[in-house]
Amino acid sequence: MDFRMDLVMHYLPLFMRGMLYTVGVSAASILIGSVLGLGIGFGKMLRSRLLRLPFDAYINIFRGTPLYVQILIVHFGIVPVFYGSTNALVSGVVALSLNSAAYSAEIFRAGVQSIDGGQREAALSLGMTGRQAMRFVVLPQAVKRMVPAFGNEFIVLVKDSSLLAVIAMPEIMYWGNTMKGQYYRIWEPYLTAAVLYFILTYLLNKLLQQVERRL
Ligand code: ARG
Repeated sequence: MDFRMDLVMHYLPLFMRGMLYTVGVSAASILIGSVLGLGIGFGKMLRSRLLRLPFDAYINIFRGTPLYVQILIVHFGIVPVFYGSTNALVSGVVALSLNSAAYSAEIFRAGVQSIDGGQREAALSLGMTGRQAMRFVVLPQAVKRMVPAFGNEFIVLVKDSSLLAVIAMPEIMYWGNTMKGQYYRIWEPYLTAAVLYFILTYLLNKLLQQVERRL
């Protein structure tokens, strides 16, 4: 079987542009998702079961349904209502952010709850308020423990952003599918896409190792 490198070269500029979309959408989504997740994670730690209910429901719904389905619902059902028309970029960031928020909330909650209760008690006994104990004693320790999990979440997002090809967001996988449609070839488009995703996750891994070492 021959591998038509010339076809890959022909599509490379499009794949490169697709890579920018993949990175941009993933980065935006991890940022928005972790901010949302922070709020939802706090909400899930509320003592009142009634107040906790909406946060519980959010996490269960977004973790209990496929991201693929969420993307389609957001793109065709939700974004048109608020935005007036469909827009793959908006839908992509919204869907990935909402999905990631559910996972981030749990990462966040796990991080905070992994800090021994004695830390908070010690802070309270020094005269801190509950809020101060959280802000100055628990969170600084918890954040360090969350870094690997958030890194993992980022890598998952980069790979799962490939699902956005289904709403014609021009990211890596979109160009892979387009190329296959044009040439009726399998290995050239999909191997190229796989290699590009691998390069991204590899670099991201390296970067995360640096961050972890520094902490
Ligand atoms: N593959 C999962 C799905 O189809 C999405 C997982 C998202 N995971 C994450 N950590 N953000 O639902």
